[in-house]
This record gives sequence, C-alpha cells and structure tokens, in this order.
Amino acid sequence: PIPNPPGPLPAYDNGLKLVNDPAHPFMTQQPNELRGPCPALNTLANHGYLPRSGVARPDQIVTAVMEGLNLGNDFAKFLTYQAFLMNGNPLTNLMSIGMKTNMTGQDPPKPALVGGLSQHGTFEGDTSMSRIDAFFGDGAAFNQTRFNDFLAFASKFGVNGTYDINAASEFRFERLQDSIATNPQLVFTSPRILSAYSEAVFPLVYFVDGRLNNRQLTQDAATSFFFDQRMPADFHRQPAPVSFEVIEPLTGKLFSDHPFVPGVNQGVNNYIEMPNTPAVSDFCGIYEDIALRVVPGQYPKPTGQLRDALMKNLGFLFGAVVFQHNCTQVFPYGK
Ligand code: HEM
Ligand code: MG
Repeated sequence: PIPNPPGPLPAYDNGLKLVNDPAHPFMTQQPNELRGPCPALNTLANHGYLPRSGVARPDQIVTAVMEGLNLGNDFAKFLTYQAFLMNGNPLTNLMSIGMKTNMTGQDPPKPALVGGLSQHGTFEGDTSMSRIDAFFGDGAAFNQTRFNDFLAFASKFGVNGTYDINAASEFRFERLQDSIATNPQLVFTSPRILSAYSEAVFPLVYFVDGRLNNRQLTQDAATSFFFDQRMPADFHRQPAPVSFEVIEPLTGKLFSDHPFVPGVNQGVNNYIEMPNTPAVSDFCGIYEDIALRVVPGQYPKPTGQLRDALMKNLGFLFGAVVFQHNCTQVFPYGK
C-alpha cells in the first residue's frame, strides 16, 4: 500500500521556526549511511529530518523538506515524485538519496535503474555548482574546486560577497559555458535544465535564515550547508512556505539574463542545440517529457503491481503541478 503524499503543514506550524533544534541534532554521516548530490537532503539527513540511513520513502522526503526548510507542499511534491519516479523503487516505495543500494529492496525488471539520487543522467546531471560532471568522475560527491568557484562568484557579483540573485545568474551561465568547453559528453536538456536553474536559486532562498530572509546567502552559511552538510547554529527556516510562485520569477531572471537553448555536446566545444525539446520555461512540456519519455524509458511495459505503483506516483506528480501550472495530465500507461 502506497501512502498518499502528506498535505501542507498546518497553519499553526508553517511559519518561522528554529529548525536546528535539540530534537534534530547534527550527527556526522556513519560509514553505512548514504549521502548524495543534494546538499539540502544530505543536511536534512544529518539532522534526522530524514532517516539518517539516507534511504527514505517519498512521503518522508516531502515532510522533511516542508518541516526543515519550509518548502511549499506542492513544490515539495513536485521535486520528490519527479526524483522518485526516476531514481526510486516503486515496488518497495523506497529511494536512496545517494548511490544505488540493496537497502531499497528487490529491483523491478530492467531497464529500471533504481539508482538513487546519485544516478547520473536522471535527476542528477551536468553543470552542477558544487559537483563535477560525471564524465570527469563522481558527479554526486562534493567537490571543493567547484565550490570555490561558487564562493568566488559570490565575492565578485553578490552584494557584500553574498550568493545573491546576481551571483546566481552569472554562476549558472558560467557553469554551462565551462561544461561546453570541457565536457565532450555534456547533456543539458529536459528535465535536467529545470533542476539546474531551480537549484541555482534554492540556496539564496532556503539556506538564508528566515529571520533575515534577504535572499543574500553568506559564504559562511553556504559553506555550512554545502561542505559541512549542516545547518548553521540557531538556523531558522523560511517564515512562510515557499513554492513555485517565489522560485519561478527568480529562475526566470537567470534565464533572461543569459538565455540558452537546450542541447548536448558532441565533443568539446561542439554544442548541438536541440530547439525542439522543452525549454526551461516550458514547465508543462517538461512535465510531459518526464511522464511520456523519461519514466517509460525505464519502465517501457510495466504490469500488475508495478504498473499500479507507477500510475499512482505519476498521479502524485501531476497533483503537484496542476494548480500552479494548469498542465494537462498525460497517461503513459493508460487511465
Ligand atoms: C541538487 C534532489 C530538495 C538544493 C540536487 C540533485 C538532486 C536533488 C538529485 C543533483 C542535481 C545535480 O546537481 O546534478 C532533490 C530532491 C529534493 C530536493 C529529490 C526533494 C524535495 C532540495 C531543496 C533544496 C535543494 C529543498 C534547498 C536548498 C539543492 C541544490 C542543489 C541540489 C542547491 C545543487 C547542488 C549543485 O549544483 O552542486 N537535488 N533535491 N534541494 N539540490 Fe536538491
Ligand atoms: Mg550534477
């Protein structure tokens, strides 16, 4: 039985709050515990908002990002079910926030990957801000050289050396230009383009203390989340749930500052544009691409319990996007 996604936090508990609290102590990752490419989920696991093992059900992830960082309910569900459909085990309802593991149980038949969030070419992709492209090595592990660039862009473009919207805009563009020039196998198409642009603005929203809430992330706080994977002392989450309506204008600015066309490299410095694939601004196009191409790529002809689970999770994904975006639901496996 698959639990329904959690609803929004109740009104009495969806505001400003100390989240680095005694009930959620930081503990360093143990050898048998998994961490991966997402600094936020790693941090939430290190504080016990997520199971410290790094293996979680989608409903646990939705709850963790709402409680720990005050993501809006629909936005939390969009990120979570998108990832779960690409990287989770629909039969056991478990997903690794890091590498593939037998802790998620028996896999469905190939070509299903059940690779966890570290699986390259699914949700994890190229041009990350604190990780290297998978062509060069481990795309899930924190990379200090990469992160030094993040800090350097904050110093150069941000107000008072913070990672703000202008630093994000310049850094996001640089990350793409750098991969075009160095990664012969760069892939920068739907759905990765949307997460790349969203993740560039997440830190200046969710990692900024909610009492200040000025969309300017200090380098100390950035280092705490990205490097230590730890909330700063006394950290307070956002003062209200933050969802699409806040994130999308910010990503829109990143795109309008430096537009790009989705594409892939065929050799270094040979970026082949793919204008007929969904653009980063085409939210419903990306939703349809996930539901009609990406998920069926791993689950071409599911039957029985597997088909039921996929259809349920696709329904949860659609439920997360319908109100803000008015997309039309698509059904890769019938109704
Ligand atoms: C990166 C998953 C929520 C911040 C990633 C990546 C994955 C992921 C797979 C790797 C993408 C890549 O860089 O190649 C998820 C899932 C979430 C979630 C399933 C479920 C809710 C959040 C939240 C934040 C966040 C709430 C808030 C700050 C980031 C950032 C990166 C990232 C900043 C980029 C890291 C980099 O470029 O080096 N996430 N994430 N994520 N995530 Fe999350
Ligand atoms: Mg990556």
